Amino acid sequence: MNPIRVGLLGLGTAGGGTYDILLRNREEIARRAGREIHVVAAAVRDLAKARRRVGDAIRLGTDAQAVVDAPDVDIVVELMGGIEPARSLILSAIAQGKHVVTANKALLALHGNEIFAEAHKRGVMVAFEAAVAGGIPIIKALREGLTANRIQWIAGIINGTSNFILTRMRDLGASFADALAEAQRLGYAEADPTFDIEGIDAAHKLTIMAAIAFGVPMRFEHAYTEGISGLTAQDIRYAAEFGYRIKLLGICRRSGAGFELRVHPTLIPERRLIANVDGVMNAVLVRGDAVGPTLFYGAGAGAEPTGSSVVADLVDVTRTHTADPDHRVPHLAFQPDRVTDLPVLPISEVETAYYLRLRALDRPGVLADVTRILGDRSISIEAMLQRQPETGEVHVDVIILTHRTVEAAMVEAIAKVEALASIVAPVVRIRLERLDA
Ligand code: NAP
Ligand code: HSE
Repeated sequence: MNPIRVGLLGLGTAGGGTYDILLRNREEIARRAGREIHVVAAAVRDLAKARRRVGDAIRLGTDAQAVVDAPDVDIVVELMGGIEPARSLILSAIAQGKHVVTANKALLALHGNEIFAEAHKRGVMVAFEAAVAGGIPIIKALREGLTANRIQWIAGIINGTSNFILTRMRDLGASFADALAEAQRLGYAEADPTFDIEGIDAAHKLTIMAAIAFGVPMRFEHAYTEGISGLTAQDIRYAAEFGYRIKLLGICRRSGAGFELRVHPTLIPERRLIANVDGVMNAVLVRGDAVGPTLFYGAGAGAEPTGSSVVADLVDVTRTHTADPDHRVPHLAFQPDRVTDLPVLPISEVETAYYLRLRALDRPGVLADVTRILGDRSISIEAMLQRQPETGEVHVDVIILTHRTVEAAMVEAIAKVEALASIVAPVVRIRLERLDA
C-alpha cells in the first residue's frame, strides 16, 4: 500500500520530535499502521534553521496554507501553536476533506466547538492526543478505555512547566525566575510562559478533558484560573509540616446540575501517589463510578513525549480514515447530538477545604477572635499551628487547616479576619483537596 502523506505546520519542539520519531521508528510504525507514514512537506518561519534540522529530505516553505493545499498531503499536522493562523489553516484542511492532528490545546479550548462541528459535517478526523498531558494517552483513556463509566471527577497535574518550577523551588531552593528560565530552555514552556505559570495552559487542557469526561461543550470562558506566581517557599514548607504538598491542580467534578472547572494551587496529602509527581512529569487522576480511581502518569511536555502522542494520532487516522465516519469514535467521546450544555459552577459556590496563613500580633484573644469568625460561618477547623515568635518579634504565623466549606463563606470570613486590628498582613489562602472518594 502507498504511504500516507503528512504535511507538518511547524518544526519546533513538538514538530521536530514528531519528525524524528517517524523517521527512527518508521518500520515499527508501518507494521502497526498498515502502511508507511511519510512527512512530505513542512511550513516554518525560519527556513535556514529548519533546513539544518531536516536537510533536503522534505519540501520546506514558509507558506503554511500551501502545505494544507498541497495535493500530496493527506493529513495536516498543526504544531505551530497560537490561535491564528492555526484556526484558519485547520478549518481550511477540514473544508478540503483532509484529516487533522493537532497539539494545540489553546485553540481547541477556545474554538474546539467550531472545529469539531466542521469536522463532523465533513466526516474528517481531528485528533488531539498531544493537546493534554504531553505523552500520556489520557484522551484515548477517557474516550475509549473508561467509556463504561460515569466519570465523577478528574484532578490533574497537567502543566509540566509549573510542576517543574514548584519541584525546583522545593528541592533545590531555586528561585522562581531561574526555574522558569530552565523550563524554557528545555522546551517545556509555551511561547507565552504566563500561560504556564498563571494556570491558563492547565485550564485549556482541563476544558478539553471535561468535555470528553462529561459530554459537554468546551467551556474555557467559565474556567476558574489561579496560577503559582504568588506561592512562597514559606507556604510550601508549612504545608510539608502538616503532611501536604502544593501542586497546581486542574479539577473538574460533577456537582449538582452542573460541573466544576477550576485550576489553582492545591494542598494534597503527601501520601497520595499524585503528590509525588515531580519535575516536568504530569499525572491525571480520574475517578469513574465503575472503575474507582485510576492514575495516568508520564512526561507532560518535551519534544519526543509530545511527538509520541502526535504519532499515535497519525497511526489512528491512518488505520481508520477509510472507515465510515459514523462508525469512528466520536471526537469528544459522546455522539455529537448527545452533547449537553451543563452549567459551570461559579467558584464562589465550590466547596473545598482550606489552608490559611495569618500574620498576627502575639497577644491574648487573637485566636479566639479568628475562631469565632470561622465558627460563625460554620467553618470547622481541622488543625492549627502557631509558630513561636522569633526573639524580639511581636508577630507570629498562625496556620489553620479547615474542613470543607463553600468558597463564598471563606471569602467573607477572610475579609472579617483581615479587618481585625491584630492581623497585620493579608491572609494567605490556598485550597486543599484530600482526593479521596
Ligand atoms: P515551537 O517550538 O515554538 O515551534 C513552533 C513551530 O511552528 C516552529 O517551527 C515555527 O517556525 C513554526 N511556526 C510558527 N508560526 C508559524 C507560521 N505562521 N508559519 C509557519 N510556521 C510557523 O512550539 P512547540 O513547543 O513545538 O509548540 C507547538 C504546539 O504544540 C503548541 O500548540 C503547543 O501548545 C503544543 N504543545 C507543545 C508541547 C511542548 O512540550 N513543547 C507539548 C504539548 C503541546 P520557526 O521555528 O521557524 O519560528
Ligand atoms: N507548556 C506546556 C507544559 C507544554 O508545560 O505542560 C505541554 O502542554
